[in-house]
Amino acid sequence: MGTTVGTANLTLDEQFTRQFAGSAARFQDAVDIFPNGATHDGRAQKPFPLYIERAQGAHKWDVDGNRFIDFLVGHGALLLGHGHPAIVEAVNAQMQRGTHYGAAHEREVEWGRWVQRLIPAAERVRFTSSGTEATLMALRLARVFTGKNKVVKFEHHFHGWHDYVVVEGPPEPPPAGVPAGTADTMVVLPVHDLERLEAVLRDDSDVAAVIMEPTGAGYATYPLDPDFLAGVRKLTLDYGVVLVMDEVITGFRCSPGGAQAATGVIPDLTSLAKILAGGLPGGAVAGRADIMAHLAYSDEPGWNARKKVRHQGTFNANPLSATAGSTALAIVAEGWPARHVNDLAALLRAELNQVMDAHGLSGCVYGTYSMFHILLSNPHNPREKISPADIGAAGQPPFIAMRDADAALFGKFKRGLQVHGVDLMGDGGMLSTAHTEEDVREAAAAFDRTIDLLKQEGTIPGVR
Ligand SMILES: Cc1ncc(COP(=O)(O)O)c(C=O)c1O
Repeated sequence: MGTTVGTANLTLDEQFTRQFAGSAARFQDAVDIFPNGATHDGRAQKPFPLYIERAQGAHKWDVDGNRFIDFLVGHGALLLGHGHPAIVEAVNAQMQRGTHYGAAHEREVEWGRWVQRLIPAAERVRFTSSGTEATLMALRLARVFTGKNKVVKFEHHFHGWHDYVVVEGPPEPPPAGVPAGTADTMVVLPVHDLERLEAVLRDDSDVAAVIMEPTGAGYATYPLDPDFLAGVRKLTLDYGVVLVMDEVITGFRCSPGGAQAATGVIPDLTSLAKILAGGLPGGAVAGRADIMAHLAYSDEPGWNARKKVRHQGTFNANPLSATAGSTALAIVAEGWPARHVNDLAALLRAELNQVMDAHGLSGCVYGTYSMFHILLSNPHNPREKISPADIGAAGQPPFIAMRDADAALFGKFKRGLQVHGVDLMGDGGMLSTAHTEEDVREAAAAFDRTIDLLKQEGTIPGVR
């Protein structure tokens, strides 16, 4: 467990500041260097973020020596946990042989083969350096393949930070810095409304693609009905629109073949990253050979100027990422990693829900596969219990995640868990094969103590 300050009189925020004094000091330096003192929007934290010094398996330690059960697992990249020995050994050996050849090499072929073997849609593969680059490439491929301009995305679905996928409207204005002309090519729709999607595909002949997270927005913060996923596949086939399944998180996690193998809904293109590269940077687009052919040069007159998608990228398929990735995917292919994390996440959700029920909280812990999200109180009516099945279900009022419903509570809750030795990703997290039932029990105990603290401070709506 993380060491906790044993002074009952301290408020949560006083405990936080005292326990993480070393992080507070580092942050004073960082604010003069980085906007917000942060290097990623999701890592910005008030009053300061924790500075981590080392990590192993399911745990990480900060500069003050506090230990955390890590549910971020490298923003979801570390399915096999921190410092998996096989990956460390393979990457160390590759380091000795060179980190970048600026040339073709055997490890990229091995890596690409693993993607082809595991991901059902992967007739062809092209590596990128991140998931953002992968979704950018997928949309450009869809546009050139269909000769159309527009892309349908769904509300809250996250696909990285490039100009197209950050658009959330209208009625929302274009995000800061995104030209209106770019935003105008995006059609943002609510999920679970196939009639509306069909109307768009029928009435607008300029739609190239539909892009979506297969388990729902924000790694299933907003859960998606698998029937809707299947319905989108059918409509995109009916109307000749490219379906891009963004498996940056779900790929190799829900099953060795990602959400597409788990659900049987096979897209035209898939964006991949995170687990793909075994904990190092990397991404990929994998998909239909006829669409991916637009990345290739051709002797066909005019092709290279007008039909070929240009793609460079200094670190594409670099030997270190290729080595880490193929070592990780060989283990993923054994099947047990996805089973382990899915089963353990179900246990974690059940244990956390028990704690929540014991405290009489109206929220719940929900999620799918190896992912979980926490909602401390029912955002619609804090005094009425909400169950995982109600969240995002048809007929319910539009669901609001905890971080949007109550940012102050959310921040306090995260700090409380950190004080008790647990680090979340947003309002939940993901599991790795390094997590054990012992970690689940420890996390449940930390959850229990954190709720006690919040109740003492009277911060949970609906709880006296
Ligand atoms: C579903 C999804 N797509 C795309 C991305 C962007 O990937 P990256 O952070 O590697 O650019 C993310 C990142 O979390 C993601 O979750």
